[in-house]
Amino acid sequence: VNIVDAPLAVVSPSGRELTVSWPDGGRSVFHAIWLRDNCPCAECRHEISGQRLLDTASIPQSISIASANVPNSVDSVEITWGGGHAGRFALDWLRQHAYTGAAGGEQEAGQTLWDARITERLPAATYSAVATSQIALRDSLAAVDELGFAVLHGVPIEPGQVLRVVELFGYVRETNYGRLFDVQSVVNPSNLAFTGLALGAHTDNPYREPTPSLQLLHCLSSSASGGENTLVDGFRVAAELRQTAPEAFDLLAWQPVRFTYRDEGTELTARTPLISVAPWGEITAVHFNNRSKAPLQINEALVEPFYAAYRAFARLLADPRFEIRLALAPGDLLIMDNLRVLHGRTGFSAAGRRHLQGCYADRDGLRSRLAVLNRSIRTEPAPTP
Ligand code: FE2
Repeated sequence: VNIVDAPLAVVSPSGRELTVSWPDGGRSVFHAIWLRDNCPCAECRHEISGQRLLDTASIPQSISIASANVPNSVDSVEITWGGGHAGRFALDWLRQHAYTGAAGGEQEAGQTLWDARITERLPAATYSAVATSQIALRDSLAAVDELGFAVLHGVPIEPGQVLRVVELFGYVRETNYGRLFDVQSVVNPSNLAFTGLALGAHTDNPYREPTPSLQLLHCLSSSASGGENTLVDGFRVAAELRQTAPEAFDLLAWQPVRFTYRDEGTELTARTPLISVAPWGEITAVHFNNRSKAPLQINEALVEPFYAAYRAFARLLADPRFEIRLALAPGDLLIMDNLRVLHGRTGFSAAGRRHLQGCYADRDGLRSRLAVLNRSIRTEPAPTP
């Protein structure tokens, strides 16, 4: 490496900050206390697990940097703090963990909100590809992470296959419905899902805590006419509501609503706002299920405003501008982020048969698998520091 291209590390006069100027012109500031907290030396970090040994709370607030050197090799910077402790940071690591310019209040980086136009570029792959190719699997999992859903074609048309698909990236969330559940019309249904009725866009199981964050639906047969699946990006629609009807958005983001489910052996109940917003402003979840919403018991002054806000949100969720329709054929499987993407279906006839098998899983397993796959697959050229 040409020495002219070396990053420049400069300690502020107070010793409270280190500024690194990168060869590409970027600049990152690191606080003395932040660096001390992240010191990678063997005294501060366990060498095998990489977990922190240093007690963060024991670092004095007044800590400062005594010196910072970029030695001959330009791939690390050696810091000595006042008091004498020293540690060496890889410049790559600092670049990766730089926080200068970090903003709060935004949607998670890497999320892309979508509307009906996504029909032209559906995230789809074949089962045989994702079962045999790490890149194909990575791409499908990345789509679920970015868009909140992905479609697989050609999943073997056999009961239980939905569980094989989950095993590619995570763990089944077993519930009172079992490890998997059948969606087909039955006599004496305990749930409207088990009829031929149309179902408006909804998320599943808002009465469960925590609500399963992923749902898979595998189509085993679909000879009935109708029964098309609908999908809506709840985050996109919530963002629309926030912009066009901010009072309605605020009420739905603040007012908890109870959801319940009961059958002979089960009684589930949970309370949540329909739109979950993190304290930093990011929309993090949508819980919307008209079938299982319990009678409202909220401040009486808010009852009528709540219904107005609910209607505004529901109308946007049903707006064809935001909705896509998928006619699932036997062998098709949908993976959905159940806290983001709402699903529904059009009604279907009693003649013919429509049989789906579904199961629940969670985002954490999927994201872990995605991250581990990304470790070994490098599609981008390595960044030059
Ligand atoms: Fe559902």
